[in-house]
Amino acid sequence: MTTTPLLTVMGATGHTGGKIARRLLAPGARVRAIGRNPDKLAALASAGAEVLAGDSRDAAFLAQAFGGADAVYTLLATDRQAPDYAARQDEEGEVIAAALRASGVRRVVALSSLGADVPEGTGVIAGLHRQEQRLRKIAGIDLLLLRPASFFENLHDSLGTIKGAGMLADTVAPDLAVPMIATDDIAAVAAQALLARDWTGVAVRELLGQRDISHREVAHLIGEAIGQPALPYVQLPEADMGEALVGAGLSPSFVALYLEMTRAFNEERVGSREGRTPANTTPTRFEDFVPELGAAYRQI
Ligand SMILES: NC(=O)c1ccc[n+]([C@@H]2O[C@H](COP(=O)([O-])OP(=O)(O)OC[C@H]3O[C@@H](n4cnc5c(N)ncnc54)[C@H](OP(=O)(O)O)[C@@H]3O)[C@@H](O)[C@H]2O)c1
Repeated sequence: MTTTPLLTVMGATGHTGGKIARRLLAPGARVRAIGRNPDKLAALASAGAEVLAGDSRDAAFLAQAFGGADAVYTLLATDRQAPDYAARQDEEGEVIAAALRASGVRRVVALSSLGADVPEGTGVIAGLHRQEQRLRKIAGIDLLLLRPASFFENLHDSLGTIKGAGMLADTVAPDLAVPMIATDDIAAVAAQALLARDWTGVAVRELLGQRDISHREVAHLIGEAIGQPALPYVQLPEADMGEALVGAGLSPSFVALYLEMTRAFNEERVGSREGRTPANTTPTRFEDFVPELGAAYRQI
């Protein structure tokens, strides 16, 4: 008798995990969706997932959530209020690694980031380097490390400034073309891997989105979508950006790592090691995504 494989998805109410869970449920896979908020998980339960709510820094909870799975999707949550963001990443990362060992799961698809090959000086991304190292040390698992570019979805956080100050603002150089990706494109790759479970050892996949795009072009496309085609992109000094982010409620620790990361972008220390290929290029264009931002802008 064959049984349907069980696929466990961490962060199932977040950007990538939510889309992965839905992409797995559509063809009838058995999905265990994990998050911390039962109310937010209810929609996935209605769609047919087994849901488990708990804290991903609770080793016993996570080992139970991973237990019996044929493959799991792991990530480090983004807690931008954490008083010590790197310590928060390390704490969750240690628990994930321990829970994988305790549960005996054999296949792991882990969300990492472009730039995670670099050990330090890349801010938030260095925490993903450390997590890659932890996961690589687990004996006997087949590990797929996904290294996506920056998410299009990050731009939701800029809509308030666009509305209030009439500009898109960040510290990234205006004409630096960088890879950016829709989280649905990451979900498509992760879901396919969880279903196929067809790699062995440690595999790394860069995911570079449809094309490299500059912040000036991003501003122009958002501007068109919201009826302000002249919307400027303004490169702020780090001090001004940092003050704005802390003022918006992000922890100084997270903000310092964010600024270090954008400095690494500007100095081109974060980027593809493979170069763009058909295999690491994904379909969704920024133009395809921008109506979502336009709709969200009209709601604020
Ligand atoms: N943003 C980027 O451009 C980018 C690029 C490359 C890599 N990454 C990496 O992507 C990761 C984030 O992935 P994502 O955007 O898919 O996730 P996300 O949208 O930040 O969602 C995080 C998920 O984890 C859950 N969660 C948060 N804290 C938890 C806790 N203490 N216990 C249990 N569950 C918890 C959240 O639940 P709630 O829904 O209840 O909050 C949510 O389901 C980060 O490691 C980030 O560094 C990001």
